[in-house]
Amino acid sequence: MTLIDPVLLKARLGDLAGRFDVDALDVCDSTNSELMRRAEAGAPSGTVVVADRQRAGRGRRGRSWLSSPESSLTFSLLWRFAGHPASLSGLSLAVGVGLVRAMESLGAQGLCLKWPNDVLLRTGQDFAKLAGILIELSSDRRGMQTIIGIGLNLSPPVGDLPQPAAGVSQAGLGPIDRHDVLAAILTHLAGVLDRFSVRGFAGLKDEWQRLHAWQDQAVQLFGEGEVTKAGRCLGVDDDGALLLETEIGLERIFSGDVSLRPAGTTIGEGCP
Ligand code: BTN
Repeated sequence: MTLIDPVLLKARLGDLAGRFDVDALDVCDSTNSELMRRAEAGAPSGTVVVADRQRAGRGRRGRSWLSSPESSLTFSLLWRFAGHPASLSGLSLAVGVGLVRAMESLGAQGLCLKWPNDVLLRTGQDFAKLAGILIELSSDRRGMQTIIGIGLNLSPPVGDLPQPAAGVSQAGLGPIDRHDVLAAILTHLAGVLDRFSVRGFAGLKDEWQRLHAWQDQAVQLFGEGEVTKAGRCLGVDDDGALLLETEIGLERIFSGDVSLRPAGTTIGEGCP
């Protein structure tokens, strides 16, 4: 598997090439951490760090994130926004929409989204995680800067995994060049992030709900391994909060520090 070549990538980005500045590394601690350091030193919006290996890749909720050059695409994108941090609510959901659009543009099928920001592959009644998103935010006199970290499985990860995981090779795609995948993702992210800058998440909410794995279905929320809430999932609101119809009425869930699953399942059972 070859390292991403920024020249080959530029050719695939066409008119959008000028909006991205891509650096490909053999190894780093975490592309999010590396890009955060570059952002603090003044790197422009559109800077991308892609790495074949991370020594300390980070996932959500303090988890680590494993990746390998043979089977994954691991990168972070710096995007600056004007305005107030509250205007960024729903950003991670918007990024999920961009990822699904990109993979579908390459021919992938069966993709769906799990709140707040996992991309899943549906196989029959079961679901497996295809990609994870970790967004980190900071603000300074130049405005708000977001580090959008994405880990995508190109082929199914091997080993003892805590949750079902899949690769895009199982989503109906043949052998695929990582340059094509990264170019498609950056292209679709540019579209989604431009729209988000103007209308916020509201402009992407309907599409997110069409892709939502458990829209209008009975679900459970887990925190610390236990069911904390149960009800019918009505989707999300304009801020990206989860809407749950429970026995006490309509509840809005803001914290992503919970795990959403279909009713009647336990953690890890047929679902990430
Ligand atoms: C999750 O827990 O689902 C989010 C995983 C995000 C992993 C990506 S890989 C590229 C970027 N660098 C990191 O250290 N994490 C993110």
